Amino acid sequence: MFERGRVSALLPDFPWDTIASAKARAAAHPDGIVDLSVGTPVDPVDSLIRAALAAVADVPGYPTTHGTPQLRAAAVDALKRRFGITGVAPDAVLPAIGTKELIAGLPRLLGLGAADLVVIPEVAYPTYEVGALLAGTRILRADGLTRLGPESPALIFLNSPSNPTGRVLGVEHLRKVVNFARERGAVVASDECYLGLAWDERAVSILDPEVCDGDHTGLLAIHSLSKTSNLASYRAGFVTGDPALVRELLEVRKHAGMMVPFPVQSAMTAALGDDAHEARQRELYRARREVLRKALQQADFRIDHSQAGLYLWSTRGENCRTTLDWLAERGILAAPGDFYGPTGTEHVRIALTATDERIAAAARRLTD
Ligand SMILES: Cc1ncc(COP(=O)(O)O)c(C=O)c1O
Repeated sequence: MFERGRVSALLPDFPWDTIASAKARAAAHPDGIVDLSVGTPVDPVDSLIRAALAAVADVPGYPTTHGTPQLRAAAVDALKRRFGITGVAPDAVLPAIGTKELIAGLPRLLGLGAADLVVIPEVAYPTYEVGALLAGTRILRADGLTRLGPESPALIFLNSPSNPTGRVLGVEHLRKVVNFARERGAVVASDECYLGLAWDERAVSILDPEVCDGDHTGLLAIHSLSKTSNLASYRAGFVTGDPALVRELLEVRKHAGMMVPFPVQSAMTAALGDDAHEARQRELYRARREVLRKALQQADFRIDHSQAGLYLWSTRGENCRTTLDWLAERGILAAPGDFYGPTGTEHVRIALTATDERIAAAARRLTD
């Protein structure tokens, strides 16, 4: 019998509702709210990318799930140029309608279920847990392999640089995870959304030859264009890595109609072919980060990790909801660390995704 709400009941309450009162308080500031709670891009989409989208806006036919050969070739070239990732065949690239849907669907797409264990970071982007819950797997939050004991997980999600902490996992750490996964037959899905936004430390892909010795077996790298190319509204990402795993994902996604719209494929091809717009965007974030970092430190915040990515993982050594209220009184909205896992309760996540004007306003309010 059909039971209403059966699936949504599996999922956590939507946490953003719990910051509505802090948001209302911040919005009451006479000079307006500075909303640093979400990592949504605010700078315009580059004209090169817009032109590529518009140029094919008259094409009426269905796109392919695998994406155009041009898109896949552009992804292969960009991975090599930007991150030194070699050995990716164009066939092993699969576009996604933004990477959130891919992550939320991955455990299910891989056929995992109640007998399987999915490992996610201790403090994590919430969609890893959502994907595991939708597939009905067991879930373990762990940053180190020793927490796993003798267990053989089916899937390990990694996220370096991390949302929310900005932590970067080094080559040695990644190598250990790859070797462990190979010994125990696990798939490693490395969410590399922020790989192009490293500030104080080099961030490497799971597919970097230094990490995997050029062998992509059992490895998936998930790349989003939302942050580095400001394409969150287009829904643009891709997954690559183990050719056999990507082929399997392609087969299932073909049946389910999970196609990236053709104009977006064209826009992605242009974005992946051009590093200049990415570099300009990175410099905007670098400058905003400096302004906010200094202001937070002056206001006696401690910033942990945050070597890369779009967030400052900040604490005043108190419960994050108290910090949230303190910031809201100054018209600033942050995301409470408890959104991301039980060990995040003393941090707030402060996003760099606001205009220069709003970032400057936040800095003034923090230091006045
Ligand atoms: C760690 C991480 N992964 C994936 C995503 C999803 O990005 P998109 O669906 O826009 O590709 C985000 C977005 O904030 C993120 O922070």
